[in-house]
Amino acid sequence: MKLCMIGAGYVGLVSGVCFSDLGNNVICVDKDKSKINALKKCIVPIYEPGLEEILKRNFKQKRINFTDNLKDAVTKSDIIFICVGTPTKKNTNSADLRYVFSAANEIKKFIKKYKIIVTKSTVPVSTGDKIEKIFSILKKKKLVDVVSNPEFLREGEAIRDFINPDRVVVGTNSERANKILKSLYQPIVKKNSRYIKTSRRGAELIKYASNAFLATKISYINELANLCEQTDVDIKDISTGMGLDERIGERFLRAGPAYGGSCFPKDTRALIDTGKNFKTDLTIVKTVVKSNENRKKMLTKRVLTILGNKIKNKQITFLGVTFKPNTDDMREACSLYMIPYLVRKGVKVKYFDPSGKKNIFNNNNIEYCKNISSACLKSDLIIIHTEWNEFKFIDFKKIVKKNNFKVYDMRNIYDPKRMKLNKIKYFAVGRKV
Ligand code: UDX
Ligand code: UDX
Repeated sequence: MKLCMIGAGYVGLVSGVCFSDLGNNVICVDKDKSKINALKKCIVPIYEPGLEEILKRNFKQKRINFTDNLKDAVTKSDIIFICVGTPTKKNTNSADLRYVFSAANEIKKFIKKYKIIVTKSTVPVSTGDKIEKIFSILKKKKLVDVVSNPEFLREGEAIRDFINPDRVVVGTNSERANKILKSLYQPIVKKNSRYIKTSRRGAELIKYASNAFLATKISYINELANLCEQTDVDIKDISTGMGLDERIGERFLRAGPAYGGSCFPKDTRALIDTGKNFKTDLTIVKTVVKSNENRKKMLTKRVLTILGNKIKNKQITFLGVTFKPNTDDMREACSLYMIPYLVRKGVKVKYFDPSGKKNIFNNNNIEYCKNISSACLKSDLIIIHTEWNEFKFIDFKKIVKKNNFKVYDMRNIYDPKRMKLNKIKYFAVGRKV
């Protein structure tokens, strides 16, 4: 099939590359010319394991191409995916939909024969109705169907999630559009996943409901971790004990710092805002957002306590600063709150992240180091902020040349007993050590 992805960001690029790998012809359009030029040279602007390789393969086979010429891309395609960002509007909870609407307004000029307009961007329930209004003349002429098809890709695992989805959700009341999308997704809807056709509004809400539920699950285990610290119980036992109940499930029960990323924080906020617009008080989601905000502060205070509140001129190392491993994405990472706060208190921070230096931390008291050893060498406290694989087997005694250094493992990747045996002052999350 002939597909057009509008927005070659995380979602548009990963979906476009994966669709081309399934044998479709894909054109990715983006307003950012430098991004398009890089992609034409098969340079991927984001850190996503495996993506560049699949891109190169399909680019060579001419199944995928990149352009900033929207007219050309739309004219040549049968299905148009809107994949532009929907960030939170400044100083509000609501999703900024201006890119989605402007994409729709631009596309409509170029439609002369039947096309399916698919919203992949995460948009509040009933946005599809507004998009359809933009296409109202074309809709009357039966030249378009406007469909919602949310994505459920995790950064760092986006390709695997695309190829092996738990479900594919398509929201439409058009049988014609449904038939075409069903055959597009047929190669990846295998035994263990389901293709779900629902109303357009239903599909829009499924996305928010899922993300807010996962955020709730994480906040729940994080709050229980606080209780575990007071009661000498290991939170990992609680996660395992709960997770083995199939009604609960073991995934997304890892206690850690506040959840971050491009989706959970903005989608929970947007869901609260949608509730407000439809006069529905979503008290649980509100509490989750609050709990997550508190968590950033709580863990930062714990850092101060671990250092005995004597922090001036102390050196703290952050291992990992991204919101999760296998991504270079800093959006809503907990470190964005912690590091500037600690520096304001007089601490010197060194950090290493496998995805490289972050310009966001341009400050004389924040130094990027090229490897784990140089970041840890003279450290008073090493904070494991992100659970990258390279942080799982560090011989701290060998690389840290400072007496009485401490380790604060915010991802519980080390075994407290072994750390004790090695005489390392070790602190974790939800475990009395
Ligand atoms: C996507 C969105 O679909 C969002 O709704 C969802 O919740 C998470 O995933 P993401 O892929 O992370 O967002 O966005 P981003 O990486 O910011 O990429 C958006 C791309 O669209 C950018 O490359 C931008 O240049 C492009 N764009 C934006 C356009 O081409 N045209 C526009 O009008 C606006
Ligand atoms: C999420 C959703 O999982 C995905 O379905 C959606 O389409 C986009 O948003 P992503 O933000 O890439 O994906 O990462 P995810 O793996 O969900 O992690 C989000 C945050 O939650 C990270 O900060 C992560 O560290 C945290 N997390 C996750 C936990 O703290 N504990 C867990 O058990 C799982």
